[in-house]
Amino acid sequence: VRALVCLLSIALAGPLRAGEAIDGPIVIKFSHVVAEHTPKGQGALLFKTLVEERLPGRVKVEVYPNSSLFGEDEEMEALLRGDVQLIAPSMGNFEPYSKSIKLFDLPFLFNDMAAVDRFQSGPVGRSLLRSMKWQGITGLAYWHNGMKQLSANRPLREPDDARGLKFRVQTSQVLEEQFRALHAKPRPMSFAKVYQSLSSGVVDGAENPYSNIYSQKMHEVQPYITETNHGLLDYMLITNTAFWNSLPDDVRDELLKISTEVSVEVNRQAEALNQEAKQHILDAGTSEIIELTPEERDRWREAMKPAWKKFESEIGTYLIKAAQTANR
Ligand code: LMR
Repeated sequence: VRALVCLLSIALAGPLRAGEAIDGPIVIKFSHVVAEHTPKGQGALLFKTLVEERLPGRVKVEVYPNSSLFGEDEEMEALLRGDVQLIAPSMGNFEPYSKSIKLFDLPFLFNDMAAVDRFQSGPVGRSLLRSMKWQGITGLAYWHNGMKQLSANRPLREPDDARGLKFRVQTSQVLEEQFRALHAKPRPMSFAKVYQSLSSGVVDGAENPYSNIYSQKMHEVQPYITETNHGLLDYMLITNTAFWNSLPDDVRDELLKISTEVSVEVNRQAEALNQEAKQHILDAGTSEIIELTPEERDRWREAMKPAWKKFESEIGTYLIKAAQTANR
């Protein structure tokens, strides 16, 4: 009888919710691949501070920067397995899970970060956060890094200067196609391997915003950086859907509120962090920064444009239109 009463009381109390250990706080492991002094690195730290301030004793956040826990090619599966609870991959990493999110990798899609904000805060942008729910991925917010620049071991002023060069790309078909359009050779590899591959000559060049170039010391092995602003490096802050649904309602509400607040702050500071990194690169004197005239930049736009053709129908013309409308 006692056993029955015990079983009944457990059933009435409901199952223990995931992460709600009897003897301790819910632990959120937040893994990422970049340095701490970058938009994403700062965002992860701010998230930890706010969560531990507002949910003291109930939620603890452990931040693992610089691929120290999982690399770029492992973190998504780690999230799906439940080995980490929060990650913020760049958009190229979503290819196996979403055709729509390829949108963000199209070169020269957005005119500037204000257009990115308009698109992401509108109904279409917001719907993409929920588009992978059934695959176990729940999007909480968009975090910016910024616009990507092209770096190389030789000067790139005209698109033809990239012909035949090997460029590291994230594992993204759109980005591979972008370099094929330049008659260059894309070499997909995870972020942690980029510095070494540039330094040993496995690849000749790469693309990233200044904050990543500087914090990974890529400028020390890339004597030329062309300020193309040709594409967006943006992140989606995501969690495991089953974990998210298992949280007590008040905790989930607070975490969502915090992730929105943090994204406002990350997106407000991202440009300043990139400009600061650009200045550090100039001060280091290791790389020449090549600034393009509007006409030269237009030629890069034209040269990369064929990359769109291949993915337009897969991404969906309505999505591309919605993004372009945000350019005003
Ligand atoms: C890259 O692989 O170049 C970036 O996605 C790294 C990052 O997360 O900023």
